[in-house]
Amino acid sequence: MTKPTETGEWARRRTYAIISHPDAGKTTLTENLLLSAGSIRAAGQVRARGENRRTQSDWMKIEQDRGISVSASVMTYEHQGLLFNLLDTPGHEDFSEDTYRTLTAADSAIMVLDAAKGVEPRTLKLVEVCRLRDIPILTFINKMDREALDPEALLDDIQDKLALDAAPMQWPAESGRRFKGVLDLKRDEFLSFGHADDDRSPADRAPRTPMSSADLERIVPDGELARLREGAEMAREVCPAYNDQSFREGHLTPVYFGSALRHFGVRELLDALAEVAPGPQPEPAVVKGQPATIQPSDPEVAGFVFKVQANMDPNHRDRVAFLRLASGKFKRGMKLKTEKGKAITVSSPILFFAQDREIADEAFAGDVIGVPNHGALRVGDTLSESGAIRFAGIPNFAPEILRRARLKDPLKAKHLKKALESLAEEGVTQLFRPVLGGDFIVGAVGQLQIEVMSERVATEYGIEVTFEAAPYDTARWVTGSDAEIERFADRHKSAMAEDIDGDPVFLAKSAWEVSYSEEKWPDLKFLRAKERG
Ligand code: G4P
Repeated sequence: MTKPTETGEWARRRTYAIISHPDAGKTTLTENLLLSAGSIRAAGQVRARGENRRTQSDWMKIEQDRGISVSASVMTYEHQGLLFNLLDTPGHEDFSEDTYRTLTAADSAIMVLDAAKGVEPRTLKLVEVCRLRDIPILTFINKMDREALDPEALLDDIQDKLALDAAPMQWPAESGRRFKGVLDLKRDEFLSFGHADDDRSPADRAPRTPMSSADLERIVPDGELARLREGAEMAREVCPAYNDQSFREGHLTPVYFGSALRHFGVRELLDALAEVAPGPQPEPAVVKGQPATIQPSDPEVAGFVFKVQANMDPNHRDRVAFLRLASGKFKRGMKLKTEKGKAITVSSPILFFAQDREIADEAFAGDVIGVPNHGALRVGDTLSESGAIRFAGIPNFAPEILRRARLKDPLKAKHLKKALESLAEEGVTQLFRPVLGGDFIVGAVGQLQIEVMSERVATEYGIEVTFEAAPYDTARWVTGSDAEIERFADRHKSAMAEDIDGDPVFLAKSAWEVSYSEEKWPDLKFLRAKERG
């Protein structure tokens, strides 16, 4: 495994996210990773949003004053001389585009699987998103203290469902009440799981015993030890071996086992992350109309907005734009420009640094800063010193829920247009205008997005509107030559729409209709994700 040789503050950054199906243990693991790194004092703080957290430091005041919740958006901690930015993927109860977009700002991800369930549907989708940028993924198989599937079955599941090579770094000895711990395959040492978990702190590494030691028999009884040795042999001979390049290219995932709740394997995961997770990567961009690559070591400050958080207080129209820095050394008070030339002086950035989250004055590639603004910034925007850079990193995703907006008062159509466009710019929901008729079709990947949008249309814009089922199942962006798109659009007039940027979208009645069209129109592409730009 290689260590980066670059120097500079940016090279210390490790920006990552945790992906999982609900209930696999993401929250528990997040808390324990932070506890393990010594960045929070007691479990439960990740969930806490009460008054006690409000008084901590200056930037919390911004939250209080403006009613914007940014508390858990980025969690920063130091470990082994590296600075980790753990990006919260919000709303894991409900799937939303926010989750997708946050992944575009991460350089790696930890995939948490429930040992009894393996790969679940939401995991699958999130991995698809990681694929868009080939984000390297580490796997943590959680809840080994409960009855689990066989390790072979779990590795096969990763391989089959995610088409990712699964390289076991450890091999578990049993599971549930018989769980004894895991064998570190590289060092040939056994890490024992203490069933009395209360005397172990999350920061502790599990006790290690060499596999050659006679003591091992006291930890793992005879029959189980034979099974462990057999499993380990199989893992070494049959499973893919860890390969740094494959991992970094997103083709292979190193697999670790543990129990987040019982603090087992968390410290080891933290160490593994420090060892293999990549730092900030070069970002493809367009500079003055020409394709270019922005290196994290480039001196010009540049970054992209991956999330916009609106004020929860309807009396203020403030927003916080989350800017992932891709290059340069950001300093408070800096003037940055969007690619359209809008200038913004970032005088009160929210920076997520240091253990007590005090306001810091500088940020580097890999870091995230919150930029308060009055609606000038939208998801996908680039900010840079020159204003000449445009990143194309934030995709829109094919909506899974499509709704038709029906106005009580048809004279309010203009107002509705403005409201829905503004919410689409903010990234709350997507907006499609069918070529025929005057409908407004709103799209989202999660139900909660629709609810938030409909609530905001009513309270912020005062428009009475209902959202009814639309006769479409999904949407695809159509790309190809202009002539071919025109031919397709001509044949499918009633199913064609434009998105907020005026790009052609095919509103399909079913997944079958999408595959049928793909077959019939081989010169066209029907995209599930559209890169903004
Ligand atoms: P999520 O964020 O991925 O949705 O999962 P979360 O951490 O909230 O965990 C879901 C449930 O699984 C929680 O139980 C949690 O305590 C449990 N859990 C997490 N990790 C482990 C583990 O390693 N072993 C075992 N046995 N359980 C684990 P809950 O009863 O739903 O909630 P709570 O009342 O404990 O918070």
